[in-house]
Amino acid sequence: MKSKPRFQLGYFKPLAVLVIGTALTPWMSAAAQSIPTFSADVAPILFEKCASCHNPEGIGPMPLLSYAEVKPWAGLISYKVQAREMPPWHLDKTTGIQNYQNDVSLSDEQITTIVSWVESGVPEGDPASMPPQPALPKGNDWQTAELLGPPDFVVKSPPYTVTANAQDQWWLRNTTFEGLIDGPRYIRATELKGSYPLGVKVLHHGHATLVSYDENGNRAAGPVGRQGVGKGGDQFPDGTGMLVYPNGEITWNLHYFPIDQVVANEQAQAAVWLYPKGYEPEYQTRGEQFFAADFGPGGLWANDIILPPDSIKSQQGVRVLNRAALITSFRPHMHMRGRAQSLEAVYPDGRREMLSRVDKYNHSWQISYKFEDDVAPLLPKGTMLMITTTWDNTADNPNNPDHRQWVVFGQRGVDEMSHSWIGITYLNDDQFERLSAERRGRLTAQNGQ
Ligand code: HEC
Repeated sequence: MKSKPRFQLGYFKPLAVLVIGTALTPWMSAAAQSIPTFSADVAPILFEKCASCHNPEGIGPMPLLSYAEVKPWAGLISYKVQAREMPPWHLDKTTGIQNYQNDVSLSDEQITTIVSWVESGVPEGDPASMPPQPALPKGNDWQTAELLGPPDFVVKSPPYTVTANAQDQWWLRNTTFEGLIDGPRYIRATELKGSYPLGVKVLHHGHATLVSYDENGNRAAGPVGRQGVGKGGDQFPDGTGMLVYPNGEITWNLHYFPIDQVVANEQAQAAVWLYPKGYEPEYQTRGEQFFAADFGPGGLWANDIILPPDSIKSQQGVRVLNRAALITSFRPHMHMRGRAQSLEAVYPDGRREMLSRVDKYNHSWQISYKFEDDVAPLLPKGTMLMITTTWDNTADNPNNPDHRQWVVFGQRGVDEMSHSWIGITYLNDDQFERLSAERRGRLTAQNGQ
């Protein structure tokens, strides 16, 4: 099941023919010049698609900002981009919705450029044609701030010291929430991260969930931050918000991976962006919701997982939507044996549609695939959501620590899980009709142009 590079060795041959042809036929020289060079062709791709992580302060293991830095990695880069393991975007490109707000993947053409550059012997080209060095994000910046400015407030988890060498660790604690807002407010976006610089590296994923109350005891609950490596913040669509009251409690559920270095008194931070005071959004949400690929007790946890040694297994679960809904994002969650997970809709009329599928799952990454507005699944009441998980407990799975083990449900990375975090806003029938009509209108206008 290992992803196979799509370009085989024979790829080099046509290029070789072109090079030889240059000496003989002057009109071929334009084609010969099309052998990509680092400075003119590869650096622009790496600066756009890789540099945000592969810089001295980023989460990538090595910087890729100059010819000298990139050259030793060329072979591995060629492999990783063909296998579509890098940049981290592990969607199946052959099925389901392909338009996502946060798509960082390379185009086929960009992959061809990198691969043929490597196969042509990594020529540097003319350093004068290098693009300017890219502007790099600071590890301390909130990604959401680029769109919405600074957050309205930031809350911090209680400190926890992550030891240098150990298995992965969980930290579950509550903090009070008070004095940050003075009346009911609606959340527009949230983002959670470890503190900069070391906390960012040890915090693998985490959740901060707020349960809050007003003076009459009305309760509102939902996430004020969910983090996962490669995930970024969560911003609700315009006009959609999550209610919070002034007083309550935040539960921090944080999962740390030691990094060979003590990280003392680490505090995760959750940033929250609010709608203006007094604004009441038409669509209300509780953020992402938890779906299991199984009928575990309560339908929540897929906790009857048993994977024999050297086995490949799938499990499926369904949830019927008793209200119409707009799905804004899909984030599969499995552990080291996880290989694939798909999200399908079975409409009330029986039609079945693949919405999204991850086929190169890698537990190191917790990517939330955020649908573009006009393709975000808009599902009528009675639609059934079907989640299918596939685990690979064989030696073919490069992330498998030991294919001779039985694997069961559990919290550790070597145990298994199977669920999805789904960005979902429930709609009443009127809202569903209106959103559907608005979308049809926009699409007709686009097609008419
Ligand atoms: C979102 C951050 C991010 C982006 C964007 C990104 N990388 Fe990575 N890259 C990482 C991290 C983290 C690792 C180590 C973990 C892993 O391999 O998944 C990594 C690993 C790699 C490795 C393997 C290194 C090793 O020692 O095994 C290569 C090669 C690589 N990246 C190349 C690229 C290239 C080329 C691009 C752009 C086309 C890119 N990466 C984009 C974060 C990123």
